Amino acid sequence: MSTFKAPKGTYDLLPPDSARYLAVREAIAAPLRGSGYGYIETPGFESVELFARGVGESTDIVTKEMYAFETKGGDRLALRPEGTASVLRAALEANLHKAGNLPVKLWYSGSYYRYERPQKGRYRHFSQVGAEAIGAEDPALDAELIILADQAYRSLGLRNFRILLNSLGDKECRPVYRAALQDFLRGLDLDEDTLRRAEINPLRVLDDKRESVQKQLTGAPLLRDHLCDACKAYHEEVRELVTAAGVVFEDDPRLVRGLDYYTRTTFEFVHDGLGSQSAVGGGGRYDGLSEMIGGPALPSVGWALGVDRTVLALEAEGVELGLPAATSVFAVPLGDEARRVLFAKVTELRKNGVAADFAYGGKGLKAAMKAANRSGARYALILGERDIEEGVIQLKDLESGEQTAVGVNEVVAELESRLG
Ligand code: HAM
Repeated sequence: MSTFKAPKGTYDLLPPDSARYLAVREAIAAPLRGSGYGYIETPGFESVELFARGVGESTDIVTKEMYAFETKGGDRLALRPEGTASVLRAALEANLHKAGNLPVKLWYSGSYYRYERPQKGRYRHFSQVGAEAIGAEDPALDAELIILADQAYRSLGLRNFRILLNSLGDKECRPVYRAALQDFLRGLDLDEDTLRRAEINPLRVLDDKRESVQKQLTGAPLLRDHLCDACKAYHEEVRELVTAAGVVFEDDPRLVRGLDYYTRTTFEFVHDGLGSQSAVGGGGRYDGLSEMIGGPALPSVGWALGVDRTVLALEAEGVELGLPAATSVFAVPLGDEARRVLFAKVTELRKNGVAADFAYGGKGLKAAMKAANRSGARYALILGERDIEEGVIQLKDLESGEQTAVGVNEVVAELESRLG
């Protein structure tokens, strides 16, 4: 051990477990790639102002959880706490929305940072795969994203997740609801902080996890009963399209997300095996965000799925991903001449697409065979002095233990055919 440890709230991804993270990222990305989403990468930090305006001045993310700092040049930057504001900023900056092909559909994968109180499933550094469809108001687009997330989780073998769906209304109907909710909240027995929150962002109070608060919210007015006709019709169409695709969801009129940019469709994917950090993913429509960060009106919708929590959910369900062994062939040379021959064979196998590894460090037969077994390889290639004289290499099936001598020049073809 060194003097240093991973910072609080972070952890390292190490083999063999790290393979599961790669597989999860890949499984989430695959349906997006197959649906017209192009890959985008943005910097790990942005102007603090982008998140303050985009995510919302009164959200926990902005007030408490941002890693914000001033650079030597005097810029106020923050490690990105989420991806949506950055992706939209990048799309606007590159004028992707002017290329005449809306919606602009983008997907991303990367690290995000929030200074949260660490616990299982909640980290200060975590990883998301996300998708954003920018510049179109169409219920089919909202439905597409929900269906693709469902498909991603199912392709991983995940079963015990639920989809919660709500509409947060738009700039017509939300203010009316907001005022009604505020009236209701003012009459409750709430602490000063919560009352202040009720004045700044009353919807956030609905999300208060404390029993003492939840108890009082039973009769709170619901946005569902205040939606304008346009929002109602839009939401109904999203629900119909998702249902027609055979994707099951639950209407959750109390679903409020932790970011302020949402309008209309909002949803969350929750897994019941995760305890309090049950949201494996979430998203929704953000029709006003572009204007909030100085762009034109660009109604958009997206989601981000948490890779860390998806891996925890797979563990909770006991799902094995059936990952292929990292190495198919392991070479065991005995002596200097054997090293040269086998190293060349390993290089040739790799060029032909066969995953191969080599017993480095001049190991003896016993230690080298141990390394071969540990590698997970199906076959070992063993070469001793007598084999060299006879022009053969010993090919050992590490599963059956069966060993055959194969001609030096035939061994690559033989392995290729055996590995199919
Ligand atoms: P979010 O709900 O804040 O949404 O995060 C999405 C997912 O990231 C969560 O459901 C969770 O799985 C994971 N996550 C968030 N914070 C942590 C943490 N501290 N530790 C581990 N995992 C975490 C967004 O970020 C929006 N940008 C989603 C979106 C995209 N909306 C529209 N487009």
